[in-house]
Amino acid sequence: MIKPAEYQRRRRQLMRHAGDDSILIISAAPERVRSHDTHFPYRQDSDLWYLSGFNEPEAVLVLVPGRAAGEALLFCRERHPEREMWDGARLGPEGAVEQLGLDDAFDIADIDDILPGLMEGRNRVYYHFGRDPDFDLRLMGWLNRVRAKVRLGAHPPHEFLQLGHLLNEMRLFKSRDEIRLMRRAAEIAGEAHERAMRATRPGLHEYAIEAELLYGFRRHGAVPAYEPIVGGGSNACVLHYRANQAPLQDGDLLLIDAGAEWQGYASDITRSFPVNGRFSAAQRALYQVVLEAQQAAIDAARPGHSWEAPHAAAVEVLTEGLLAHGLLKGTLKRCIANGDYKRFYMHRTGHWLGLDVHDVGDYKIDGSPRLLEAGMVLTVEPGLYIAPDAKVAAKWRGIGIRIEDDVLVTGKGNEVLSPHAPKEVDEIEALMAG
Ligand code: GLY
Ligand code: MN
Ligand code: MN
Repeated sequence: MIKPAEYQRRRRQLMRHAGDDSILIISAAPERVRSHDTHFPYRQDSDLWYLSGFNEPEAVLVLVPGRAAGEALLFCRERHPEREMWDGARLGPEGAVEQLGLDDAFDIADIDDILPGLMEGRNRVYYHFGRDPDFDLRLMGWLNRVRAKVRLGAHPPHEFLQLGHLLNEMRLFKSRDEIRLMRRAAEIAGEAHERAMRATRPGLHEYAIEAELLYGFRRHGAVPAYEPIVGGGSNACVLHYRANQAPLQDGDLLLIDAGAEWQGYASDITRSFPVNGRFSAAQRALYQVVLEAQQAAIDAARPGHSWEAPHAAAVEVLTEGLLAHGLLKGTLKRCIANGDYKRFYMHRTGHWLGLDVHDVGDYKIDGSPRLLEAGMVLTVEPGLYIAPDAKVAAKWRGIGIRIEDDVLVTGKGNEVLSPHAPKEVDEIEALMAG
């Protein structure tokens, strides 16, 4: 759990960066209709969650740095016994102040009356302009209410800034409590991967293995951080495969990319293993290349190294392996410089991880790749994908392999947050034989 004091610290830090003449406006994620009158599971906006821990729709957090009568304000739904009987409990403004350490809270129904007055006299508005067209319009309406009173001496804001500019940089560096939650998200997902591995055998369908993953998440109270990818055989070569419908064939590999979300924080883990529990010689050869590439990339994820270093390390080992096995021809240098390896490795080696699976945070600073620093969390996920119609020896065709772990950069090096599910060949074969 993130404690109210940490949310408070985050809000203070954000307000300090924004300055006393600003106002910051962060809206809750809307509920989304799945069909007719049923909704998708509710997922709070990551920024509102990061700054408050408030988990209801129809809410707006407003930060007004330096305001004597209170800086951190929440607009949210009033308590409503009848609605709560249908839809579940609401915190209500009083509850929000008590439980989330906010300075004040109001009924969301009153926001049109109150918010223009809070904007008045402030120079700058920080907000996610362009993310939600409906909310953009409401914001313009509040602004115009202030502008309409200029002749009465009102001072409307005149600078409009992207909130992400300040907030993303804060979110990139994880606190001790965030790391604890991310370790747990990875632990739950790792256990679910292991469960899925044990359950796999020829003749089952991909969805039956997906069910093992979902069971593994939900039994601990977690949810999927994204739709699991469960791809047997050449389905593993479809990078965003989500159909999960095909039967699993004896002799194929199975690629599973599945992460759990725990208290808002994502894990993102991929394992690839043989459906029948034994790697073929060709599968083992390429698997070993990907595993070595991943280790080289993890070793390169150190403070002071470029964010690109893990990718460069992975590309080098993968390309060496492709040359050694005759999938590429030429010299290592030329195959890397020409990008020949992209025939079989067409994505990057990782991304920031946090409240979002592809988490916020700049990858470049002034046009150059940024350096890794303690507290950043990134995935390391090299792979090799040999399309079923690739012009290579038949034994390689249709093999798709990715190995993905979540890595925290520490002061001295790094910590793999997701060591639970096995990935060594011998470990996988032993587990599946058991
Ligand atoms: N599961 C999405 C990714 O690996 O980036
Ligand atoms: Mn993934
Ligand atoms: Mn990933």
